[in-house]
Amino acid sequence: MEKRTIYISQPVLGEEEWQSLKGPLESGWVTQGPKVREFENLFGEKHSVKHAMATTSCTTALHLALAALGVGPGDEVLVPAFTWVSTANVVLYCGATPVFVDIDPKTMNIDPRDIAHRITDKTKAIIPVHLFGLCADMDAIREAAPGLAIVEDGACAAGATYKGTPAGALGDMGCFSFHPRKSVTTGEGGMLTTNRDDLADLANQMRNHGATISEEQRHHGPKPYILPDFNLLGFNYRMTDLQGAVGVVQMGKLDSFINERNEWAQYYKRELADLEWLQTPEVPEGNRHGWQSFATLVDESKSPCSRNEMMEKLQAKGISTRPGTHAVHMLHLYAEKYSLKPEDYPGARLVNDCSMAIPLHNRMSAEDYAYVVAAMHDL
Ligand SMILES: Cc1ncc(COP(=O)(O)O)c(C=O)c1O
Repeated sequence: MEKRTIYISQPVLGEEEWQSLKGPLESGWVTQGPKVREFENLFGEKHSVKHAMATTSCTTALHLALAALGVGPGDEVLVPAFTWVSTANVVLYCGATPVFVDIDPKTMNIDPRDIAHRITDKTKAIIPVHLFGLCADMDAIREAAPGLAIVEDGACAAGATYKGTPAGALGDMGCFSFHPRKSVTTGEGGMLTTNRDDLADLANQMRNHGATISEEQRHHGPKPYILPDFNLLGFNYRMTDLQGAVGVVQMGKLDSFINERNEWAQYYKRELADLEWLQTPEVPEGNRHGWQSFATLVDESKSPCSRNEMMEKLQAKGISTRPGTHAVHMLHLYAEKYSLKPEDYPGARLVNDCSMAIPLHNRMSAEDYAYVVAAMHDL
């Protein structure tokens, strides 16, 4: 078979995004304005939430969410041990302490059985992550952590649902990413969702330096020369209207992107089922996977070579793979700060060492998928 080059991910951006950018470029209104609002409305509607607020990234959306909940020094926040580092970093930004919870290697999401004994009288919130687009088991989490504020890290989960309810509407607040490795992208970018008016008001003000009115309201109001009051500490986490213009077009494609990814995910599951050393993602009945990634788990006791050797062999054939993500408790920053050992979280450690995402995105052809399947059988 002729060698191909298959990236782990590639965004689909084209003529429609290009045309949409002309609006803000021609009007000159390029910071948060009408395009961001249009994007927020589309996103909010899709995820069945009252409020959707665009931000500069999922990381800043998570930070805003914790700030709006009043998380601060002395507080603890529960975070899965296997996620992207920023899920834990935002807790440190608030001066609070991240307390890691192990994950279930079967779902790669937070293990509800490991939650209850980690809760203390300092625990203020929990951040379940919908890793790779699969919603965490929210019913079991709520049962294990009754009364705790829930911030969903849905960085990878735009368009995903849990028992019929969209990601972002499953907790007190939800956070999403539009980094180019996600199914829809604005370059960088994020979204904060909530059904709670009190949290929406606070987060909306905090993303704009803490100003009591937005710049758009001020510029288009009767007295644009009067600066607003600032009555709380805020940040500049505003999305630009250039990104909003791209986001509006991308939102129109979200469902078709996920549906196409779902078809190829099912193809992978069928075609790789005979590899008894490979675990592929399971989607519980009634849920919709967002398919940001197709993350597998290699059983190294049965596989023809180690996960790392596998990634090397596949790379030599032009196929990009990645570990699913990292075990945050094993990163130097956290291991040293909290004296954590890899074996403290065995599920996270296993998935850190043996997970492998294989290419799944909307710029792959049928031949690309067949090439990956053939290479997986030839390791
Ligand atoms: C689970 C998770 N949380 C947070 C983030 C951070 O998103 P962003 O890059 O938009 O800040 C990511 C990004 O990959 C992620 O996968």
